[in-house]
Amino acid sequence: LFVFYDAQLYALHGRIISKHLGLPKRRVHDMVLPQGESTKSSTHLGQLYDFMLDQNISRDDFILACGGGVTTDLVGYAAATVLRGVQWGAVPTTLLGMVDAAIGGKTAINHKRGKNLIGAFWQPSFVLSDVTLLNTLPPRQMVSGLGEVIKYCGLIGPTMIDTVREYLEASNLYHEQLLVKVIERASAYKADIVSHDEREQDKRMLLNFGHTVGHAIESSLGYTKLLHGETVLLGILAALEVGGQVKPRTVQNLAEYRTMVEGFLRLLPRHELDAKAILAGMAHDKKRSQKAQRFVLLERPGKPFIADDVSNAVLRKAVTRMLAVYSGKKRNYANHSHRKRS
Ligand SMILES: NC(=O)c1ccc[n+]([C@@H]2O[C@H](COP(=O)([O-])OP(=O)(O)OC[C@H]3O[C@@H](n4cnc5c(N)ncnc54)[C@H](O)[C@@H]3O)[C@@H](O)[C@H]2O)c1
Ligand SMILES: [Zn+2]
Repeated sequence: LFVFYDAQLYALHGRIISKHLGLPKRRVHDMVLPQGESTKSSTHLGQLYDFMLDQNISRDDFILACGGGVTTDLVGYAAATVLRGVQWGAVPTTLLGMVDAAIGGKTAINHKRGKNLIGAFWQPSFVLSDVTLLNTLPPRQMVSGLGEVIKYCGLIGPTMIDTVREYLEASNLYHEQLLVKVIERASAYKADIVSHDEREQDKRMLLNFGHTVGHAIESSLGYTKLLHGETVLLGILAALEVGGQVKPRTVQNLAEYRTMVEGFLRLLPRHELDAKAILAGMAHDKKRSQKAQRFVLLERPGKPFIADDVSNAVLRKAVTRMLAVYSGKKRNYANHSHRKRS
């Protein structure tokens, strides 16, 4: 068994996890990886290969990734490629990992030309999400995970919205039973979509709801300052603005959902965002895929559709309005208690 841990996770929970893994007669080789997005690199990938090959890994062995999306993306890709593929399992330890990154078998590292450009589809044998590990996750990382959760509310509709509302009403982002329900629904939905369309030919594209503008914001900030899920929240708001222009009747259908999204925006740190850079980022993406800008929009919660023909004028207006809402909201974690680090 080859186990790879995120460094921060290892410092907080490594002892207890490794205690469970070290059963008699099982040889465990473990390695701790530095935290942060820069670990998803060819340099670190090379270190994983060296480590596994030096310990004589064979195709009957098993690889386990314990950490957030950075760890599961990197380790999953190492598993996909070492000896042409070794089975692996994921223990996501961030909310974003539990509801999104660890599910669906997309694995990748970054390249200087962009994020996730080198990767493979390689399904894990299991994904084990244990919410007690989230007790130590900083509130800002929880909110980033909630960005994806709010995305699922838009895609799944009322059942997910009710589940999330119940969780939010507890005013404790770390409420274990309620988190279990949220994670269960979100991951089951993603797993279902991926099992019908692993390679993103059609249905899986829906999971990009909020990501067209979200990715452009991330890239305009050089992948610093805002976390992935935070930019997804902004991207969702921009998508609602696009939808309102393309199909005005959606505005009324989505009023409550929009209030939910805006409620989260006040938890985001303030940064200067550059509308021009965001629009240029989207144009660049479009050029690379040589396709029209595809937008996932909502008719109403639970009824997503794809629009291929969003004009630049509509986009510009949507981004400007989204930025106006963002810059008008204040940051405040005060309503949510945070458990002490264990
Ligand atoms: N493959 C996919 O389908 C997919 C989907 C979404 C995102 N991603 C990728 O996921 C990455 C982001 O994932 P992330 O948000 O989990 O970030 P991350 O892996 O960087 O983790 C965030 C931070 O939390 C710390 N941490 C992890 N577990 C902890 C715990 N239990 N307690 C305290 N701290 C803990 C980490 O050290 C890190 O500092 C990006 O690289 C993104 O590209 C992949
Ligand atoms: Zn995402």
